[in-house]
Amino acid sequence: MLKAIQIGALTIEQPVLLAPMAGVTDLPFRSLVRRFGCGLVYSEMIASNQMVRAHTETLRMSTNCAAEGPMAVQLAGCDPDVMAEAARMNEARGAALIDINMGCPVKKVTGGMAGSALMRDEDAALRIIEAVVKAVKLPVTLKMRMGWDHENLNAPSLAHKAEAAGVRMITVHGRTRQMLYTGKADWAFIANVKNAVRVPVIANGDVVSVDDAAEILRVSGADGVMIGRGAFGRPWFPSQVQAFLAHGTRKADPTPAEKAQIVLSHYDALLQHYGEYKGLRIARKHLAWYATGQHNANAFRVKVNTEESPARVKALIADVFADRLDLREAA
Ligand SMILES: Cc1cc2nc3c(=O)[nH]c(=O)nc-3n(C[C@H](O)[C@H](O)[C@H](O)COP(=O)(O)O)c2cc1C
Repeated sequence: MLKAIQIGALTIEQPVLLAPMAGVTDLPFRSLVRRFGCGLVYSEMIASNQMVRAHTETLRMSTNCAAEGPMAVQLAGCDPDVMAEAARMNEARGAALIDINMGCPVKKVTGGMAGSALMRDEDAALRIIEAVVKAVKLPVTLKMRMGWDHENLNAPSLAHKAEAAGVRMITVHGRTRQMLYTGKADWAFIANVKNAVRVPVIANGDVVSVDDAAEILRVSGADGVMIGRGAFGRPWFPSQVQAFLAHGTRKADPTPAEKAQIVLSHYDALLQHYGEYKGLRIARKHLAWYATGQHNANAFRVKVNTEESPARVKALIADVFADRLDLREAA
């Protein structure tokens, strides 16, 4: 059902993409999702002005996982020159493509006329796109929402202009800025963008099952699907979507013993990437997501949220996910 997407030198074999997510799609998570299978993984949104200042935390966000396959770097910002410079830096650091964020609804970002605010000022958006396209040889792509609000659904027209300015692929999250994350993503609207451009279009929003993925592609006519929150605590989910779209196969979730191993290796990778103090804290939200559906989820979350010893957290992970310990009984 899905065809490979070719943009420049990059081939996306099975276009099921992991969405850029600030605070989530760091190197450990991207690597894990990639290990199961995923067409392309994205960095967290990187503030271009912090990138050019070589802010240590920011540089860590675009730590490359090229060893495991291509990685897209997403940039946010409102100054064309700064965006261009940040794009060049990431090209040198091994990015497979540069994605421009025109979807982020957060005030800190939109207040600075970046993210989804750029959809309200198409001229400013195009100046940024042109500067970035000129700055790098890599493909430049765009991620946007449907528009600022339902009175201004300009994604199709902006997509058309962006394509003329050299953008090679467009992802659409089927919500407006004003919706933030409320309501339901409008998958059918994405077809309007698909019909406005020739470059590949990726459909995004609320895909949490393999059937959702098939349906968003059917109603939008898009060339690929991007998964965000559906991969929380389920790094294997994009690979299940790939299998379903390719062969109609419903790949089973990992067994409890496999899940315990996956969570443990993710935990170790987080501690290694961030160091023990920060890694232990960042891991808490992932552990909470992994626990969804476990019969002892709440007790597990309470325990790991106060536990300061990585060794004890790991013992808990091993016992709880492999179903060897019922915390309700242990309490
Ligand atoms: C925690 C979180 C962080 C996000 N960070 C980004 C980001 O850095 N860049 C971006 O373009 N979108 C970001 N998004 C939006 C997602 O990429 C995606 O468009 C949105 O969540 C809808 O897809 P989903 O329903 O599959 O999650 C973020 C979403 C979440 C939940």
